[in-house]
Amino acid sequence: MPEPQADPALFDKVVNLCKRRGFVFPSAEIYGGFRSTYDYGPVGVLLLRNVKDAWWRSMVQLRHDVVGLDAAILSPPAIWEASGHLANFTDPLVDCKKCHERFRLDKLADPEVCPNCGSEHSFTEARQFNLMFKTYAGPVEGKGAEVYLRPETAQGMFVNFKNVLETSRKRPPFGIAQIGKSFRNEITPGNFVFRTREFEQMELEYFVPPADGPRWYEYWCRERMQWYLDLGMPADRLRLRAHDADELSHYSVGTSDVEYLFPWGWDELEGIANRTDYDLRQHAERSGERLEYFDQAAGERYIPHVIEPAAGATRTAMAFLMAAYAEEEVAREGQGQGETRTVLRLHPRLAPYKVAVLPLSKKPELQAPANEVLAQLQPHFMCDYDETQAIGRRYRRQDELGTPYCVTVDFDSLDDHAVTVRDRDSMAQDRVPIKDLLDHLGPRLTA
Ligand code: GAP
Repeated sequence: MPEPQADPALFDKVVNLCKRRGFVFPSAEIYGGFRSTYDYGPVGVLLLRNVKDAWWRSMVQLRHDVVGLDAAILSPPAIWEASGHLANFTDPLVDCKKCHERFRLDKLADPEVCPNCGSEHSFTEARQFNLMFKTYAGPVEGKGAEVYLRPETAQGMFVNFKNVLETSRKRPPFGIAQIGKSFRNEITPGNFVFRTREFEQMELEYFVPPADGPRWYEYWCRERMQWYLDLGMPADRLRLRAHDADELSHYSVGTSDVEYLFPWGWDELEGIANRTDYDLRQHAERSGERLEYFDQAAGERYIPHVIEPAAGATRTAMAFLMAAYAEEEVAREGQGQGETRTVLRLHPRLAPYKVAVLPLSKKPELQAPANEVLAQLQPHFMCDYDETQAIGRRYRRQDELGTPYCVTVDFDSLDDHAVTVRDRDSMAQDRVPIKDLLDHLGPRLTA
């Protein structure tokens, strides 16, 4: 098998599609945009929600050993002193003395050459730059009022370990899962929503008896790879890469990244880390609370070790878009000539709309049955409704949104009480009685 190649042209195609179809807009665009921040539009918000729902379903709903949490974003310095983020959550920053551009030293292809102006040996000494956003709670700015926007959701799980243990009747091995926004003052945000200062994470902290840490680490590496594959990521564009010792975060004794072959090359989607008892021990020391588990059967008290699969929701949504994007030559539907169609072959779970209801024309006699079909489907699936333009163009629009099925209500529907169901991928069309529509679509959309 030939090695898969990165496709640099794909990047602009996906970014353009995101803007054109309402997935992602540059934030504050009417004011010229705002520094690599983005807003999720009408279909982007659905895709992102579906990614998060798919994660929650697999990590919480389908398990008996994981519970959820939604912790505060604003957090006191004590948390970040204990976690080590105030001291260690830094990136090395250099400035080019010639062109005054700023870079992360560890991301430069050649640490002696400025990628912007090409100057050699023009960098300042590296300075450690802390990535946390600081602000002030209350009306008075100053010492004592400082708070931080969390740079990871993980600490919320550690500081609530005791609360969850006491209220959920769980015992190790068990996990706490959380999805939410995190904030990092990245030196070089970029590659669209890949690296931004405000982003969403999906993290699990899985607490295990210390001796079982290595086994559970392997388990979560396998589980997490399978999650992406089950949702349609091509196997040859996904890999698991173990960190070298010098790459490890300050809390980790072992980390593997799930990487995807982006248009610019292999890059991280998720990190699975063995955090040992680092975090619980730090918070126990700092807070004076006992963050331990007492195993009554063994008569043993211990601080659990933690295995952490930590994924980015926004980054992962973008990777799914890139993996789904396809252009193909097809015969124009209803006519002889060929054309190129763009289609997002998104897994039905991820597709923003599952079904589009399309009356063949705007004529009032079709609107009533089309609305009836819509009302039948809406309680079960996220639906779109579109009655403008020629039907072929509406199919193409739905292909670009990744909608798995289009349901067309035509004049024959008035007599045969049936509709045409068009499949996004094969473009095959089936005539289905309206009364059987739910049974027809249900199994195809919830697989
Ligand atoms: N609690 C561990 C932790 O936060 P991380 O590797 O720094 O680990 C986990 O972050 C995931 O969060 C990354 O794999 C990535 O998907 C996402 N992520 C991190 N920084 C990001 C950023 N600036 N923009 C978008 N996603 C980011």
